[in-house]
Amino acid sequence: MEESSGAVGENDRTERTGFNREPGRKNYGGKQIARVKQIALDDWQEEIVNYDGHILLCTGRQVGKTTVMAVKAAEYMIKNPGHQIIVVSLTEDQAQIMIIKVLDYLEKNFRLWIAKGKNKPTKNKIVLTNKASILARPVGNTGDAVRGFTGNVLIVDEASRMPDDMWSAAKPALLTTGGKLWFCSTPHGKQGYFYECWLNKSGRFKVFHINSEECLEKRPIGDIWTEEKRNEALRFLSDEKNGGMSKLRYGQEYLGLFLDDLRQMFDDALIKKCMNAQRPGMIDKTKDYYLGIDVARMGDDESTFEILRREDKNLIHVENIVTTKTLLSDTTKMILQLDRVWNFKKIYIDDGGLGVGVFDYLLKEEQTKRKIEAINNRARPLVRDETRKKKLLKEDLYSNLLVLMEQGRIRLLDDENIRLSLKSVQYEYQDGGKIEIFGNYTHIVEGLTRAAWCIKEKSLNLWISYI
Ligand SMILES: Nc1ncnc2c1ncn2[C@@H]1O[C@H](COP(=O)(O)OP(=O)(O)OP(=O)(O)O)[C@@H](O)[C@H]1O
Ligand SMILES: [Mg+2]
Repeated sequence: MEESSGAVGENDRTERTGFNREPGRKNYGGKQIARVKQIALDDWQEEIVNYDGHILLCTGRQVGKTTVMAVKAAEYMIKNPGHQIIVVSLTEDQAQIMIIKVLDYLEKNFRLWIAKGKNKPTKNKIVLTNKASILARPVGNTGDAVRGFTGNVLIVDEASRMPDDMWSAAKPALLTTGGKLWFCSTPHGKQGYFYECWLNKSGRFKVFHINSEECLEKRPIGDIWTEEKRNEALRFLSDEKNGGMSKLRYGQEYLGLFLDDLRQMFDDALIKKCMNAQRPGMIDKTKDYYLGIDVARMGDDESTFEILRREDKNLIHVENIVTTKTLLSDTTKMILQLDRVWNFKKIYIDDGGLGVGVFDYLLKEEQTKRKIEAINNRARPLVRDETRKKKLLKEDLYSNLLVLMEQGRIRLLDDENIRLSLKSVQYEYQDGGKIEIFGNYTHIVEGLTRAAWCIKEKSLNLWISYI
């Protein structure tokens, strides 16, 4: 092994948290390294860190797949001077989480190997004194991040949710590269390249499958993974299984299964076809604008604000705003401010959960009281004269958006997060034919489905036929 200029063995034994593959002392390049007392990796994580080859890791949620990839990446960099690792994640945030985890591990175990000065770590890059580096990027709409992959290792996090476009752009490079592929993900239905790799017909990958129940139950109790933590995690899983989630959804999210009957609602080609709008340079005041809002639920980070311009029977997406960790009062202010700019015809909000506070306030405001509508309390006419009505359901909102997209009547902003949000939506048929719609990044689509309901409003006193 090449000698590195980075010093080792600088860490004292402390009680700080972190990760520890081999407690005690370890030999790198002839030097003994004192290890920090840290989280012990599970056996399957150990096996992954030690495996030298292409890896496909398919798991249930929260088992520690991003963590193990980060540890493996850090160890690889230490052992392979000058090598480059490229990480592709779905979003900027997720790319940064990977870098934070790698840096955390390096700081606890190899602090002096981390380059300083102009090469010091940034939010998406770490360079070591041995010139090994890791670069994490969110996948763009076009898959540029991996198109010309020339690194030594390519990590794809949440690989099942990557767009088809990314894979087709990347495939030539992936098939010819001498580099290593480390893919990890929770499944997302039986489709896409990650699923193909999972089938592993060419035997290229070492496939690991981990289910959350087993993993969390078997994880050895220690200072960090305490009995209390394990009980809490198992209770959470049991609540999800016995009420929180459908059987299929639980199977995908926690047992890590590829399931035929969980389908993607908006397929990749349809999303691509509709994403052809740009934010307008100026606001045409003669047009009608509608706002759809999704207020972050308790514990969720993001609220979304989607603005659509209506042109007779067609809609154009003109703005998508996502705010994180905002107070309800800020959300309210934001709506009033947006309304002053766009002068909405209608503002649609879900008044279930936290949205109710925002709705109540805007209902009292002179500026918005005639515009604000609680979409979940609206009724959908069943007959043309509106004498019979039925409560509006989530599936009505989603199928309205789907039909608009299929008919080419809505143009959406060409934006990576909007695409990810649309792709994340899945559905399943439950007993009795009821449709269950869900996803792990639906905030933007929730706002969009609400705004798109404006197509049901009568415009210029003309009857707009119901789809
Ligand atoms: N061996 C371990 N022992 C104890 N805790 C661990 C272990 N591995 C990971 N964790 C912790 O479990 C949590 C989830 O880890 P991580 O984010 O890597 O999981 P994930 O499978 O990528 O989750 P997600 O499905 O949300 O992407 C983190 O708090 C992490 O520190
Ligand atoms: Mg993860």
